[in-house]
Amino acid sequence: MRAALVSTLVTATTGAAVLLATSASAGTTLGASAAESGRYFGTAVAANKLSDSTYVGILNREFNMVTAENEMKIDATEPQQGQFSYANADRIVNHARGQGMRVRGHTLAWHSQQPGWMQNMSGTALRNAMLNHVTQVATYYRGKIYAWDVVNEAFADGSTGARRDSNLQRTGDDWIEAAFRAARAADPGAKLCYNDYNTDDWTHAKTQAVYRMVQDFKQRGVPIDCVGLQSHFNSQSPVPSNYQTTLQNFANLGVDVQITELDIEGSGTAQAQNYERVVKACLAVTRCTGITVWGIRDTDSWRSSGTPLLFDGSGNKKAAYTSTLNALNSGGSTVPTSTTTSTTEPTGPTTTTTIPGPGGCTASVSLNSWNGGFVATVKVTAGSSAINGWTVTTNLPSGASVTNAWNADRSGNSGAVQWRNVSYNGRLAAGTSTEFGFQGTGSASGLTPTCAAG
Ligand code: G3I
Repeated sequence: MRAALVSTLVTATTGAAVLLATSASAGTTLGASAAESGRYFGTAVAANKLSDSTYVGILNREFNMVTAENEMKIDATEPQQGQFSYANADRIVNHARGQGMRVRGHTLAWHSQQPGWMQNMSGTALRNAMLNHVTQVATYYRGKIYAWDVVNEAFADGSTGARRDSNLQRTGDDWIEAAFRAARAADPGAKLCYNDYNTDDWTHAKTQAVYRMVQDFKQRGVPIDCVGLQSHFNSQSPVPSNYQTTLQNFANLGVDVQITELDIEGSGTAQAQNYERVVKACLAVTRCTGITVWGIRDTDSWRSSGTPLLFDGSGNKKAAYTSTLNALNSGGSTVPTSTTTSTTEPTGPTTTTTIPGPGGCTASVSLNSWNGGFVATVKVTAGSSAINGWTVTTNLPSGASVTNAWNADRSGNSGAVQWRNVSYNGRLAAGTSTEFGFQGTGSASGLTPTCAAG
């Protein structure tokens, strides 16, 4: 184990670490169990349900990532051209952040759910309006979004592998990369994803077409960090046998893969087994960094008649919940510390590592910096014996301050900031790791975290 750790930590300095480890302990909620391998477990949230106490109770207990189901879409955030409306999206973002959950942004550019004024536009005027929308919304939420679905559903279904026809597509093939570049400029700390459905089966023309676009973007330095597979499954569109292959092949392009809108119609054991397959496929792929289900209770689903979610209409855990939790607890590849591989940042990610001694713990940081800000991902590793709780101290240079954090409790936001484990990530078996992160303004260069166990 020790030799394996040393080699992993050395590799981590190149940003290409691959650490295989089994989970140390069984979590009791979806978010906690996913966090044990460095992943998140999220759900879509509707702002008008935040007054439903059963809904909010499950949300706060089980999930550590949130996607606004409709509230960040173009028709919601820019109902009139140039007039932005964030009240409902803010309710979701504020609730999530207040609970220490992160937020996936959905979505900046899409052919659907466009406001009337945009539906009627074309050509240069539309291209400029789309880019302005991307810039305005990503700037407004700068520092608060873990990953943006920058572009959603831009490819056609069927066997052509072509782009979907839309007013955005008719502005020119390069509309997608233009959107990604605008998003990167507006929020350099957010991971930028391409998100689509019917991209789960590796043999499908649509999957292949998205793969070729992502490959092309990586080769040409277009800023892209992740691919979202929506993964809406039912009897017409079942979980494909090659699902893990698809996840792995996208990951091999050098992007993270996220399951972004999971739901599986069905009931009982069959549904539970399908959820288990999907979760295990993600856990087997090191760069599959998290799973989001598209709603909490069956009655919250856009496909409610198919009862596709993990909780029934009364909020009870279904068999699919149990199989999902068990699969998350069964262990899997651990997400590596350095996952940001963009070639466009002024400063690329840098990783400092130390090797754990006997007992105690160590902390290493992967820093993704740009002019005026940074995202720090801190990996906490137990030494040669198990620990039950940890405190990490980071000494931020003068002028730097923390704006946002996840997977740890914080005291202070500048100078010597102390980070304490939260309920689900304090217990680490010998040699195993967990991660927390924070975002800030200023420069965090030279950040060297220290770790104390207990
Ligand atoms: O809020 C209005 C309500 O006031 C009105 O009375 C009612 C009448 O139809 O409509 C309500 O709005 C609906 C909205 O959901 C909120 O419930 C819209 O009509 C309806 O079109 C909208 O559907 C959403 C759908 O996207 C639209 O494309 C679903 O909630 C949402 O789950 C779904 O999410 C999409 C992802 O964004 C992208 N991937 C596919 C996924 C499922 O379709």
